[in-house]
Amino acid sequence: MTSSIKGIGIANGGGDCPGLNAVIRGAVRAAILRHGWKVVGILDGFDGLIWPEKTIPLTVDRIAGILPRGGTILGSRSRGDPFHHTTDQGCAVTQEDFLTCRRTMEKLEIDALVVIGGDGTQTLARDLGRLGIPVVGVPKTIDNDLKATEVTFGFDTALHVATDAIDRLHTTAESHGRVMVIEVMGRDAGWIALHSGIAGGADVILIPEIPFTIENVCSRLRNRAATGKKFSIVVVAEGAKLPPADPFGNPFPTPRPGQVGILVGEAIRESLKQDVRTTVLGHIQRGGSPSPFDRILSTRFGVEAVELIARGEYGRMVCLRAGEIESVPIEDAVGEVRLVDPNGSMVRTAKAVGIIFGDEP
Ligand code: F6P
Repeated sequence: MTSSIKGIGIANGGGDCPGLNAVIRGAVRAAILRHGWKVVGILDGFDGLIWPEKTIPLTVDRIAGILPRGGTILGSRSRGDPFHHTTDQGCAVTQEDFLTCRRTMEKLEIDALVVIGGDGTQTLARDLGRLGIPVVGVPKTIDNDLKATEVTFGFDTALHVATDAIDRLHTTAESHGRVMVIEVMGRDAGWIALHSGIAGGADVILIPEIPFTIENVCSRLRNRAATGKKFSIVVVAEGAKLPPADPFGNPFPTPRPGQVGILVGEAIRESLKQDVRTTVLGHIQRGGSPSPFDRILSTRFGVEAVELIARGEYGRMVCLRAGEIESVPIEDAVGEVRLVDPNGSMVRTAKAVGIIFGDEP
């Protein structure tokens, strides 16, 4: 099939993520070197689709050296996309937005869009597609919680950072006989906590998918101490759901981002009357150079997104299944996150090696 495409735009939305630049590089190189298309970078989320001056030409020279770089050369927005109108259905792309985007795309001489992002960004991509903009998606998030793909790029790098942090905390925990609590990201899903907790040899992992009590956590820590293990490592997912009250019956406040680990740490300290230190790892997990796995996955995703456009397969998002790059309708990929299965093999493996999740002592 001969493609009528002359130019494409690349946009990314949501939080930055290691591997974003590698996707951009993969797509730009495939589009230019393989297909001879022109490529335009849409800056700051979808802003460049509304304001054409917020775009840059992406040439092979312009993207040289970005493969190992964290962040995104396009800039991004976590919130406040230009389509943020309040409708009965919430945020939506309107007919007026569509006409503006169309005009901008004509002005920039781009025929189709590659949209890189998580659930929120892919939902906007779906809406643009529904209104008639030729669009393909690339899934992105360190949280690894998109249901249509086995892995999202960025997760592996975040996992390395979190595991390294747990290793480092181990040495202090051991030297000082302390309980060390570490809060990791993941939004509503416990993937980073579960994987890094197993990889880092944690004693307790608390995730949103498994309700826990502080009593159960402390009972495990007491048992460890009783058998001569003077230190413990507790990994807490930022989305872990605090029980209604601490062991003294005091209700927990509704935590702000980055507070769950601190509240868990305080409750353990009060309960055990032991030295506890808490580390909130935060955005360090999103920063820095992508791992080799993420660089390769990002490159494969970027290249396949371009091939979807070349084949005219719009409205689809690339994904990884059994090690192969495939694609699914964006419609099927959004609106529902992939959570940890409390009875799944990863949790069972963790339990088999003695890690507890606070649902039992
Ligand atoms: O989705 C990625 C993520 O890093 C989550 O793990 C975290 O909850 C959120 O983004 C933080 O967003 P922001 O950078 O807007 O604070």
